[in-house]
Amino acid sequence: MDATISVDRSAVVAGVQVKTGLYVGGRWRASEDASWFDVVDPSTGKVIAAVADATPSDAIAALGSAAAAQASWGRSSARRRAEILRAAFEAVTARREEFASVITAEMGRPYAQSLGEVDYGAEFLRWFAEQAAHVHGEFAASPNGDFTIATTRVPVGPSLLITPWNFPLAMGTRKIGAALAAGCTVIVKPAEQTPLTMALLVDVLAQAGVPDGVVNFVPTTRAADQSETLMRDARLRKVSFTGSTPVGSRLLEQAARNVMRSSMELGGNGPFLVLRDADVPSAVNGAMVAKFRNGGQSCVAANRFIVHEAVAEEFIEGLVKRTSALVVADGTAPVADIGPLIDDRQRQRVQRLVDDAVASGAQLHTGGWALPGDGYFYAPTVLTHVPVSAPIMREEVFGPVATVTVAASDDDAIDLANDTPFGLVAFVYTQNMARALDATSRLDAGMIGVNRGLVSEAGAPFGGTKASGLGREGGHTGIDEYLETKYLAIDTTVPA
Ligand code: SIN
Repeated sequence: MDATISVDRSAVVAGVQVKTGLYVGGRWRASEDASWFDVVDPSTGKVIAAVADATPSDAIAALGSAAAAQASWGRSSARRRAEILRAAFEAVTARREEFASVITAEMGRPYAQSLGEVDYGAEFLRWFAEQAAHVHGEFAASPNGDFTIATTRVPVGPSLLITPWNFPLAMGTRKIGAALAAGCTVIVKPAEQTPLTMALLVDVLAQAGVPDGVVNFVPTTRAADQSETLMRDARLRKVSFTGSTPVGSRLLEQAARNVMRSSMELGGNGPFLVLRDADVPSAVNGAMVAKFRNGGQSCVAANRFIVHEAVAEEFIEGLVKRTSALVVADGTAPVADIGPLIDDRQRQRVQRLVDDAVASGAQLHTGGWALPGDGYFYAPTVLTHVPVSAPIMREEVFGPVATVTVAASDDDAIDLANDTPFGLVAFVYTQNMARALDATSRLDAGMIGVNRGLVSEAGAPFGGTKASGLGREGGHTGIDEYLETKYLAIDTTVPA
């Protein structure tokens, strides 16, 4: 078999027909070595589809297509790019239930919450459709008045977008929307656990009018080889990655070789502060969102609750009560509040973190165990009295486990919050706005929720400080990640 011939292979996933090939140069096809890999439903542990497994040379073919399409896409009118993105927004919205079903099937999240991700993910397409025609330059006299300074913004060029499994649609649209609006062509590498949602999106983008070669899709199980190969090729001008800090650091090292533009949305260790005058019922409501959205599998999940001693008892009681009432079930069950973890490896890691905390003196209030059965379910858990040196306090948990630390003062709470190499998100609850602003000025994080357990929003800049990454996605600066500034020095004294 000629593996690179077009294939029209697809799978029916939760009733939705999804193409399962690579998409390179406007053509769905098998991988060069005709290999396929299985996608598993984490609620059942069963295989739901097989997806083409791109080789490094498939990735180079994808880069070739992206590079060939760059000039015409980059010169296309902003209005045209905006209209294509707007059509993609309409199409994703019209197929909301289909996207949600595929998300639930491949990553396990309760269906109602998957619908929420589709709405969130579609918003990035609408947002960047609106941004595309609002990219501006400058025209100004030089300081000495002897010439004119003009600037324009031009696309960076072919971009590698590496997306995670925890929000398989929204993390794609956040990158693809910005890149396409700016005039960049892209090679998309989804997480190997969740390639189907992205395959559906790529199909929708093609139907919305994205020209051949502008979006290329190369799912793979050979991620390290793929990125190493692509990042050596000087035609690639940008990498945008969402995932762990160790992988992000390695990509940055690779990016340094060709001095490549990089955006990194990496790990977090979000502190959630409940100050002495917080409204505790609101703080508990916010905590449930900040901790248990997506079963805690989010880089903006609250990892450490730090609570002033004056309100600690009430907060812990409320949190434990609400946590023990959460229903853990297959994502297709309407009653489910929490689905499975993404795979057994992640579940074992969460169990190790909890066991280690308990062994070092932590008190377990609810949960602390893996549910029996085929899926990768873990009981929502609350721990108190965890030593600050315990791994669960230092690492990103990525699971439904809350730790609560009691602080003697608001100052202590802020010091504890900042005692981490990460700086992605923080949350602060207080009824005193001056105290809130003081805390936000002292918390070292790229995003801070004030009396709110959720910061994610297409129109806001998403990103972190320190080991949490570089750059911002979404918001009105999100498009800048894909633009270069070109400066023209114009001598207006030379006769025309
Ligand atoms: C993430 O967890 O990587 C991002 C989640 C979000 O955008 O809310």
